[in-house]
Amino acid sequence: MPLKDKVLAVLEENKGQSVSGSEIARSVGMTRSAVWKAVKVLREEGYSICAVTNKGYCLSEDSDFLSEQSIVPNLRTKELGRKLDVFKTIDSTNNFAKSLAQLGAVHGTTVISEVQTQGKGRMGRSFYSPLGMGIYMSVILRPKLTVEHSLLITSCAAVAVAEAIEKVSGVECKIKWVNDIYAGNKKLCGILTEASVNVEQGGLEYAIVGIGVNVQNVNFPKSVSDIGTSIKLETGENVSRSLLAAEMLNSLEDKLSTITDASFINEYRRRSNLIGQRITVTHGDHTEELTALDIDDHGRLVVKSDNGEKKALSSGTVRLAGE
Ligand code: BTN
Repeated sequence: MPLKDKVLAVLEENKGQSVSGSEIARSVGMTRSAVWKAVKVLREEGYSICAVTNKGYCLSEDSDFLSEQSIVPNLRTKELGRKLDVFKTIDSTNNFAKSLAQLGAVHGTTVISEVQTQGKGRMGRSFYSPLGMGIYMSVILRPKLTVEHSLLITSCAAVAVAEAIEKVSGVECKIKWVNDIYAGNKKLCGILTEASVNVEQGGLEYAIVGIGVNVQNVNFPKSVSDIGTSIKLETGENVSRSLLAAEMLNSLEDKLSTITDASFINEYRRRSNLIGQRITVTHGDHTEELTALDIDDHGRLVVKSDNGEKKALSSGTVRLAGE
């Protein structure tokens, strides 16, 4: 690990408190002057580190850069996030994770970036991913699942992410089928799952679960502002993006272990903001108005049309009627 990252690890561990140069030097096995140089480099990278005479260095309490040093200490996982790549900028964390997966990256490998220049949403849409405002994270999963069970990964991730956001920020999170997380009537987070199936063996080769959360945003471009919100807008508080990223990984690992008994589906139903509502469903250029009845054990949306016919949907773009 580069020396500056070792120094950063000590400062992150003591965030908001001063640590003397000699204490840092001792714990990372370098000289005080090397510590001073490392602090200088970290400051040039944008870290707010103050130096107080007779006390030492202090990483500002509200420092919110994403790094391995700020995320890993908050992990309770065995596998998710244990191999972690944190980027300052990237086109799309899903694209990068996919290329890693194709090269054989292990289950749980995670890619995070401070900004995405070509963040991807579902249905070929883009995902607004401005610098330092959100969490843009992709996790490579290689669970040993049948194709049928692997269809539940997105719903499972939605419950895991909703629980993590609620735990860290206190924002009550609803799920808009399939995989959007809502606070009130605005979208806080989107999830894009991309999978590769092993055609010969008939199972899932890997899945990339891409999660985008609006965290610190206080304004959005016009195209997003009517439908989007952020944790900051909902609470007025700054939550630590590193803590939230780690909690999402903790929660995702826990929930994935329940995917084959589908116990998370009850939690998904409880959080659904569609059940009992009039909705419109769009497939291609066909839009239909229906009533949402339930989420079935396969994660499908059960709907009733006005002539009383019931069906279970596996895909489609859903809106609340009148939205
Ligand atoms: C959606 O709302 O339609 C899904 C949005 C998914 C966005 C995340 S951000 C991290 C990952 N990388 C991407 O390019 N997209 C996903």
